[in-house]
Amino acid sequence: MLKTIILIGGPSKGTRFRPLSLDIPKPLFPVAGFPMIHHHIEAASKVPDMKEIIIIGSYQPNDQLSRFLNTMQQDFKILIRYLQEYTALGTGGGMYHFRDQINSGNPNLLFVLNADVCCDFPLQEMIDFQRESSAEFVILGTEVATRQQSLNYGCIAEDKTSHQVKHYVEKPETFVSTTINCGIYLFTPEIFSYIGEAFNKNQESMSFDLDNSTSQMPQEVIRLEQDIFAQQLAGSGKLYVYHTTKFWSQIKSAGAAIYANRHYLNIYRRTHPERLAKSSPEGPIVIDNVFIHPTASVHPSATLGPNVTIGKGVTIGAGVRIRESMVLEGSIVQDHSCILYTIVGWNSMVGQWTRVEGTPNDPNPNKPFAKLDITDLFNTDGRLNPSITVIGSNVQIPSEVIVLNSIVLPHKELNRSYKNQIIL
Ligand code: GTP
Repeated sequence: MLKTIILIGGPSKGTRFRPLSLDIPKPLFPVAGFPMIHHHIEAASKVPDMKEIIIIGSYQPNDQLSRFLNTMQQDFKILIRYLQEYTALGTGGGMYHFRDQINSGNPNLLFVLNADVCCDFPLQEMIDFQRESSAEFVILGTEVATRQQSLNYGCIAEDKTSHQVKHYVEKPETFVSTTINCGIYLFTPEIFSYIGEAFNKNQESMSFDLDNSTSQMPQEVIRLEQDIFAQQLAGSGKLYVYHTTKFWSQIKSAGAAIYANRHYLNIYRRTHPERLAKSSPEGPIVIDNVFIHPTASVHPSATLGPNVTIGKGVTIGAGVRIRESMVLEGSIVQDHSCILYTIVGWNSMVGQWTRVEGTPNDPNPNKPFAKLDITDLFNTDGRLNPSITVIGSNVQIPSEVIVLNSIVLPHKELNRSYKNQIIL
């Protein structure tokens, strides 16, 4: 029997996802037409003997989250629970806090998935690898293209024959390995004894500090990466890496969601071809992978694609051209406008004959791994780096203007063209 844990963080995380996370918790942000963690839940629910999916985070439970979880339970016919941490306890601390709930029913394997990754979820492959290698703990790993890229991730040095992890360093200062941690793990429940050890160590150092009358805060936070993988499991012979060559990327920034959208649309070709729109003689013209929500209204003379998602209740006018973009629920794009490499937030309006364009920073869109999400917003001269354009919710963009490579915060009414700006 298996369970899956999805780590969704809380309101204090996901700041790089602004302005889009101002309206919705980041894990519910829609990618390729569905909330980010819908993709995780769908993948986990397909694993045989998966009994329960437990979502752990420090977001306040609200209607939006409850509705989403109810729908997921019904759609995927699996038990799903949200467990709220009283404060952000770290990637291992939340799991430890709820260990009794997780262990109830005695699961023999646990998947742990970071919410902000986008991938093909090779979960069954990880189970097969775990059985064959008799590993206790498995990290999904992928190769980055350059040594420089690896420094932004958890880096894994392994025994190349057995795939045992020999060293693990989170975001190293100097090069360790081009194999990086994808934030997807398969554990036996034995993981809790290691997290427990880190917990006890933290408690001891806390009481030591109290004896010395220092004002240090209680150390309740436990990080799987640093406190468990790096300090306890690397070199123990129990932690293994399973390599995937399929695509993987993180969704840290709003811009990275455009690439995740592209990847998931591409996966639909294989898994859900019915979700992809098709060109028909009556229009609109659809190029490659495009998702159009059934409630959206798209004028037959519009041209969409490749890699476009049109959300619920969106209206797309005559002659509109959209590529490599997402238009979120309730937005309107009026006649003859052009949207390229852009996310148009909820309930926004783009006037006629307007051009909204971002700049892709994707060096090689066809490679399975691409470092897309960690481009800093500003370069060293304090200027905005080229990025996709992000329009917050409820923004009005007038007719006949150009908005290029800019980020617009919610509720703005623009009255002219903008280039390379953050519009506050
Ligand atoms: P950053 O570059 O700082 O974002 O670090 P990272 O890429 O290593 O990611 P991080 O460890 O912050 O988060 C990995 C995943 O765990 C994300 O999906 C987070 O939402 C989630 N996460 C991070 N901290 C917590 C926490 O305290 N509690 C829970 N439940 N989830 C967390």
